[in-house]
Amino acid sequence: MLGWNLDLGLDVGSCTTRIYQRGVGLVLAEASAVAFPPGGQDVLAVGGEAKLMADQSSEDVRVVFPVRGGVVADHQAAAIMIRELVRRALGRRTLFMPRFVVALTTDATPVERAALLSAVQRAGARRVRVVDRTLAAAIGGGLVPTDRAFRMVVSIGGSVTEFGVVCQGRLVWGRNVRFGGRDLDEAIRKMIRNRYGVILASASAEQMKLQVGAVLPQMARSRVLVGGGELYGGDLFRNLQITLDGIPDLLGRAIAPVINEILWSIAEAPTEQRVEIKATGVLLVGGTALLQGIPQVMRERLGVPVVRAREPAHAAALGLGTILQDPAKLSRDGHRYGAPV
Ligand SMILES: Nc1ncnc2c1ncn2[C@@H]1O[C@H](COP(=O)(O)OP(=O)(O)OP(=O)(O)O)[C@@H](O)[C@H]1O
Ligand SMILES: [Mg+2]
Repeated sequence: MLGWNLDLGLDVGSCTTRIYQRGVGLVLAEASAVAFPPGGQDVLAVGGEAKLMADQSSEDVRVVFPVRGGVVADHQAAAIMIRELVRRALGRRTLFMPRFVVALTTDATPVERAALLSAVQRAGARRVRVVDRTLAAAIGGGLVPTDRAFRMVVSIGGSVTEFGVVCQGRLVWGRNVRFGGRDLDEAIRKMIRNRYGVILASASAEQMKLQVGAVLPQMARSRVLVGGGELYGGDLFRNLQITLDGIPDLLGRAIAPVINEILWSIAEAPTEQRVEIKATGVLLVGGTALLQGIPQVMRERLGVPVVRAREPAHAAALGLGTILQDPAKLSRDGHRYGAPV
């Protein structure tokens, strides 16, 4: 097989790293985590296994999540993680050093861009091109790259919300806000601590969020959690009846400031964009977009139609896949995909 058949799309999220292989599809989605011994640099585990170790909060391991708030916070751990996950995705074919198209958080600073490039190069990439993540998510979420209308895209991930306006395969403007599903987990931990006096492990708080699954009470999947979960420090709690009533409202309140940021950004956009967005609406992507009721809450607050993509969590990686099919259309800075405006 020729080396250039191995072109990969890489979206390194704060929760999940996703790899798209050209001609094959999404080949990997694994937790973005690396486990080390407390004082050493030997790698104990990468991906889902490392995340499990973090969830067990053992003192014998130090688990690093190399990406936070949409950006690489630890290059070395990020490079180790990317190298290992690419090896897993491709198996023995990693003999050919792959060429990558990587998603970079919208509105990234030059330092954040350099950190991502450095991690991917250290992981062994032969060549790296960078694409804005909101643009990739727009394409992966189903927007047609040649569409002449202004369309708004909002991605709510694990630790960052990225949003912006795309038109004709270009990101016209974009912003990011450090807020995501992890902040919702934190809000739940705080509420449980106040109500029951116990401090949950983050993974248990996330489980509760997934169990409730909604930001509107009438859409909640479940109301009571009976005995089962882990506390911070690894102890288990049993026979504690936790009522999940109140969690949808709590999540709705926690997410409100981000929706306000989006509202203000729309209000500041040029009239032509504002008018079109009112008609074309918002495309919603990201893992946190899977919470029921978010489209309704956004529609009400923003006053525009809101449509959730079919596979919201994978949207950016799927968009990189589309871009991989035709990289010639990508401009040198990666901000343009498709015909020029
Ligand atoms: N079905 C679901 N309902 C609600 N939340 C979900 C669901 N599935 C995943 N999530 C949440 O989505 C978040 C992860 O989203 P995503 O995979 O888009 O993040 P990421 O790309 O790794 O992170 P980021 O883009 O913020 O760096 C987690 O907080 C997770 O709890
Ligand atoms: Mg993401």
